[in-house]
Amino acid sequence: MSPDDLKHLVRSVPDFPAPGVLFRDITTLIAHGDGLRAAVGHLADRARSRGAESIAGMEARGFIFGAAVAIELGVGFVPVRKPGKLPVATIGIDYDLEYGTDRLEIDPTAIRPGQRIAIVDDLIATGGTALAAAALLRRAGATVADALFVIDLPDLGGAERLRAAGLAVDALMA
Ligand code: PRP
Ligand code: ADE
Repeated sequence: MSPDDLKHLVRSVPDFPAPGVLFRDITTLIAHGDGLRAAVGHLADRARSRGAESIAGMEARGFIFGAAVAIELGVGFVPVRKPGKLPVATIGIDYDLEYGTDRLEIDPTAIRPGQRIAIVDDLIATGGTALAAAALLRRAGATVADALFVIDLPDLGGAERLRAAGLAVDALMA
């Protein structure tokens, strides 16, 4: 399935989780076997061509695509977690969302110094989540040059913010 076909599998829900937000829901995409496989395949092709040595995905929706891409490439996966979930010493960062604030944490020992890690998530809106993840991974010693998404919401400017932070950004659909 082409990225254009995949776009028809994403559901748009108005006013969730707050008034004025048009929520792009991947539940319908990942429930579709061919759609899920195609989305993962397209992301994996792009991550492979960028020489990714590991994949990082953000909790929770980034785990679905990120882990699948890592398996496809035969590389490891770094979970970028919401606070209080990892049972070891973590490094963390607070960040703003389209609809609130949150915090991400990682286990820095999951990363080899200089390891080339691509970020994978379902969606980029303001870019706050991906920027925070990139900053954390870099703090742990990773080389973070790439961020891959299923969906870009270009009106929210996230991809531009990531590019300004030195990341190459790619998405399967806008
Ligand atoms: C969503 C989405 C991205 C982030 C994008 O996650 O999966 O991670 O928001 O928004 P941004 O570009 O404005 O930062 P959310 O924090 O809602 O968590 P979830 O994956 O647990 O649903
Ligand atoms: N995360 C941030 N903004 C979002 C949106 N509009 N739809 C789905 N997930 C999101």
